[in-house]
Amino acid sequence: MRAQARSTWRQGLLFVAVAIAALTAPSVSDPRTSQAALICTNHTAAAAARSVFIANFLSAMDAVTPQISSRQYARVVVSGGSSPTNASAVYAFGQCLKDLSKSDCELCFATCKTEILKCLPFQKTTRGGRNFLDGCYLRYDEYEFFGEALSQDDRVICSNQEFTGNTSAFAENTKKLVKKLSVEALRNDDGFLVGSVGGGNSTVYGLAQCWEFVNRSSCQKCLLNATTAIDSCIPKQEGRVLNSGCYMRYSTSRFYNNSGTGTGEGGGRQPAIIVAFVLSAVAIVMVSLLIIFFGKRKIAQRRKVRKQLGALAATVRKSNLTFKYETLEKATNFFSEKNKLGQGGSGSVFKGILPDGRSVAVKRLFYNTRQWVDQFFNEINLIIGVEHKNLVKLLGCSITGPESLLVYEYVPNNSLHHFLSDDVKAKLLSWRIRYNIIVGTAEGLAYLHEESQLRIIHRDIKLSNILLDEQFAAKIADFGLARLFPEDKTHISTRVAGTLGYMAPEYLVRGQLTEKADVFSFGVLLVEIITRKRTSLQSQNPISSLQMVWNLYKSNRLLEAIDATLEGKFPEETASRVLQIGLLCAQASAELRPAMSLVVRMLKDDDSAIPSPTQPPFLSSSAQIALTEKVKTDSRQGTSNHSSYNSTTITLLEAR
Ligand SMILES: *[C@@H]1O[C@H](CO)[C@@H](O)[C@H](O)[C@H]1NC(C)=O
Ligand SMILES: *[C@@H]1O[C@H](CO)[C@@H](O)[C@H](O)[C@H]1NC(C)=O
Ligand SMILES: *[C@@H]1O[C@H](CO)[C@@H](O)[C@H](O)[C@H]1NC(C)=O
Ligand SMILES: *[C@@H]1O[C@H](CO)[C@@H](O)[C@H](O)[C@H]1NC(C)=O
Ligand SMILES: *[C@@H]1O[C@H](CO)[C@@H](O)[C@H](O)[C@H]1NC(C)=O
Ligand SMILES: *[C@@H]1O[C@H](CO)[C@@H](O)[C@H](O)[C@H]1NC(C)=O
Ligand SMILES: *[C@@H]1O[C@H](CO)[C@@H](O)[C@H](O)[C@H]1NC(C)=O
Repeated sequence: MRAQARSTWRQGLLFVAVAIAALTAPSVSDPRTSQAALICTNHTAAAAARSVFIANFLSAMDAVTPQISSRQYARVVVSGGSSPTNASAVYAFGQCLKDLSKSDCELCFATCKTEILKCLPFQKTTRGGRNFLDGCYLRYDEYEFFGEALSQDDRVICSNQEFTGNTSAFAENTKKLVKKLSVEALRNDDGFLVGSVGGGNSTVYGLAQCWEFVNRSSCQKCLLNATTAIDSCIPKQEGRVLNSGCYMRYSTSRFYNNSGTGTGEGGGRQPAIIVAFVLSAVAIVMVSLLIIFFGKRKIAQRRKVRKQLGALAATVRKSNLTFKYETLEKATNFFSEKNKLGQGGSGSVFKGILPDGRSVAVKRLFYNTRQWVDQFFNEINLIIGVEHKNLVKLLGCSITGPESLLVYEYVPNNSLHHFLSDDVKAKLLSWRIRYNIIVGTAEGLAYLHEESQLRIIHRDIKLSNILLDEQFAAKIADFGLARLFPEDKTHISTRVAGTLGYMAPEYLVRGQLTEKADVFSFGVLLVEIITRKRTSLQSQNPISSLQMVWNLYKSNRLLEAIDATLEGKFPEETASRVLQIGLLCAQASAELRPAMSLVVRMLKDDDSAIPSPTQPPFLSSSAQIALTEKVKTDSRQGTSNHSSYNSTTITLLEAR
């Protein structure tokens, strides 16, 4: 009886701790990824230059991401190709609204980039596209539009809901607000302003932003146009103007983040609201505690609470899985830049040394997981059970601090990408080492797919996710993350946007996800490990390594594909077998791709027969225009990135 009471107490305390942690967390992250408009523009252009234009488009899309990460806006001109005129040059511009945090910006932009693929220049006439999300903007076109104030394709988007209050007060407030925004945004160096006008029911919130590279006079012209144009939305609850040179939005809800910038009436109420919220939340916690502690007779109620806490409490009691936030903070020297190992789609990774001397890698998650803490724990608990020599081990996590952290074993030798992207370092990876990495990766994947008690599809197999230990053995990083974010579409699209080239066509085009998608990515990875081919942007007829290997295979010259830094030191028969297995994995047809366990067997057993591969997903049947292109991003932006791969293969199929 007493023991039971004590455990009830503990659960109560735990609940309080979690509730307080949730309350004191910094504001919930919101990348504002809902789409205001996607506008594909038509131009008449020389069809002859189309393939070069497409290639330039893809490399432009690749080059914007690192710029966005480093300064939240991007400007790219790609005029590769041999065309003597600039007919095939692609101009691209992207920017996040200034109130987005850096990580929200990256998330928003990843979504933005994925969606703009719907404006692919495959249609004969499509030569431009603009994607307006509520937090960011991306445009590409065939002419230099960077300083442009207004254009033909500018839009005004009004919401459907009418304002249901004092309409005349609302209209008055809205007009006053947009006027104020357009005048005052101009005074700010960054051409950005948020604010609100009014009080009570008819408060209106607004935001104005001139895009980077639009000069002051154009900014003024654009905002003036927007001020007039947005009037047509009143008395709808929301209005947006999507101009070439600027963006303006008003709404009845406070959609922006003005914790950093902005002016406006009514901001003073904020602290009072927070205090009221905290007080009422504390009251709720106290009441819950009383119910837990005194409500012994109210068994039903108690059971309910216990059910809610069950998974969490059970996991937390296994204290070796949870780390104190403070411990990890100290271990990583307060997440200092020096300790930063890299940045991925789901968070940044820091090296840390625990008090007991163990080295660990601490992943700081972008996502706010507090809405479903117990579910998160459950998943972590499951993933912690997944152990294999070729998987980076998850050691535990921390959720009681201001942000969620995952703690992994530290793998000292950086990633495959680190070695293969550098001619000198690539020499360190002999044939034997590369072969072992390929086999190890295959074994790790086979375990994830077929042997672990969970069926885990990795979804993001690429060079930068294969880490190497002291002996250059492969360790797959970041598996199981998709399980942790089951409903988070942003997370998935971050991946999509980052690693198009590794994605199986059926997943890319139709969203069909099976283990065979990983098998495809593995095939691409294998080919890259062995050929280490980069396609130069300048090359007139860019082709991917996959296509190149396929062509050589068809003409029985497979060995010519092998990386020159190996200097011919490899067993010819095995090498061509391995490449053939790579082609087998990267077949267009998912059904024909072998399961990973079979891949392992074929790799290890020199005598097993290898079926003839069918073609990878590209090449032209007229019904299915497809293109595979390998592009190199702006390496000036390249930092010592652990997990952002700065050369991406892109395979795109025309959507039906
Ligand atoms: C709001 O902006 C501040 C300052 O830029 C930033 O620290 C915070 O994370 C932002 N909050 C959200 C919800 O984006
Ligand atoms: C562009 O052309 C396509 C067909 O060629 C048409 O369906 C679409 O509406 C056009 N878009 C614009 C903005 O004119
Ligand atoms: C092509 O564009 C580049 C830079 O954008 C410019 O320097 C060059 O003069 C242009 N060439 C032609 C033929 O327009
Ligand atoms: C501002 O940009 C526009 C369009 O790019 C240009 O026509 C105008 O001359 C520029 N004005 C100034 C003052 O630079
Ligand atoms: C609506 O607002 C206007 C201006 O704020 C005010 O003069 C008017 O009395 C209000 N009407 C109603 C019905 O509240
Ligand atoms: C808000 O609007 C409702 C009707 O929509 C009205 O009854 C109420 O008095 C208004 N409150 C304030 C503070 O204006
Ligand atoms: C704003 O610019 C667009 C495009 O030039 C034009 O169609 C529209 O009439 C302008 N609106 C105003 C109010 O000037």
